[in-house]
Amino acid sequence: MDTTPHGTQVDVGIVGGGPAGLMTALLLRRRGISAAVVEARSEETIAHTQRAGILEAPTVQMLLDADIGSRVLTEGHEHTGTVLSFEGDQRRIDFQELVGRSVWLYPQNEVFRDLAAAWQREEGIIHWSVENTAVEGLDSDRPQIGFTDADGVSRTIEARVIVGADGSRSMCRKLIPEGVRTDHFTSYPFAWFGILCEAPPTAPELIYANSEVGFALISQRSDTVQRMYFQCDPDTDPESWSDDEIFDHIQRVLGGEEVVELRRGRITERTVLPFRSYVCDPLTYGRLVLAGDAGHTVPPTGAKGLNLAFSDVRALVPRLEELLGDPAARPDDDGLFDPLRRYSATALDRVWKAQNFSYWATNLLHRRPDEDSFAHLRRRGEFQAITRSAYGRGYFADSYTGWAD
Ligand code: DHB
Repeated sequence: MDTTPHGTQVDVGIVGGGPAGLMTALLLRRRGISAAVVEARSEETIAHTQRAGILEAPTVQMLLDADIGSRVLTEGHEHTGTVLSFEGDQRRIDFQELVGRSVWLYPQNEVFRDLAAAWQREEGIIHWSVENTAVEGLDSDRPQIGFTDADGVSRTIEARVIVGADGSRSMCRKLIPEGVRTDHFTSYPFAWFGILCEAPPTAPELIYANSEVGFALISQRSDTVQRMYFQCDPDTDPESWSDDEIFDHIQRVLGGEEVVELRRGRITERTVLPFRSYVCDPLTYGRLVLAGDAGHTVPPTGAKGLNLAFSDVRALVPRLEELLGDPAARPDDDGLFDPLRRYSATALDRVWKAQNFSYWATNLLHRRPDEDSFAHLRRRGEFQAITRSAYGRGYFADSYTGWAD
């Protein structure tokens, strides 16, 4: 690694310091490969942005194997099952009994804190709050990330490969030429209204509920703070609902206090989360490769986003090592390097499984604005087919906890 005042040379330059970018940087370092990271947001902004809270078993294993001192086992909570509820009819899906795996409730911002602390403890190069990020020279042997750092200094990172881990509004993705890239996209006619509130947990496990007024999810954060979501119109102004209206509505979706009594408290945060499904194919071009939300976005139902980012990184790191170990490597006629093309194919296999699960679970649990009685009762049939059969529950458990392969 050679560092001049305004230019840095590393093996891998990473655009994006969220979980995908930082996990890539850390695992590369474990293999003796140098990396530098740039991130447009500040460390505090990412640490305080609420994201999903469920980690699949393979994601937890990666945090442990990376040996970064993650607090997932001490501060996270193992969930061996979850509850699906239709019009107050609650059915438990027992993950351990069905597939022998659990999930962990450990919010994504805690994952981020673990990774950022480890990277900085190991004196990894990271620039937070950068502006004017641009990637150049993708067709050359030494592509560059140019940016303005938080002190206003123009800098460059020169690398042999660039990883675009810059989130769902990725700038890197657009560097894959339109003639090479196919964008697969679908939208949904609803969004989630997410709240944080000061209350004890309503139930020991998460509850995913559907009713004639739509979807709600009761999740958790700690003994005193809870996370909840309910389906809303994408144009909803989060301030237009009073606290009581929000809790009355969620209680109604749960099926009334005789089923489960919603624990209420002061609402400290409210946000509307958009829904979309997107896949970029391929996840690479030249010396650029995408990981995490930059290459694919899932709707939040089932909390697959971070888990997919980690499965990308699992597939990517050995292929980066392979490419870097072959200085004579040349791209094929499409402009793709073989190891990165194989990464893309492996990652997209899992991405499409997760796209299917997130799409399916979203449709199972949400009400469409134009729904008639047929649609609602058909959904009731689907709910029963899933929850009253060990095969149906097994499908849900296998997908939710993260497939074995
Ligand atoms: C959470 C978010 C999800 O999308 C989900 O499926 C489960 C939990 C959460 O924020 O806790």
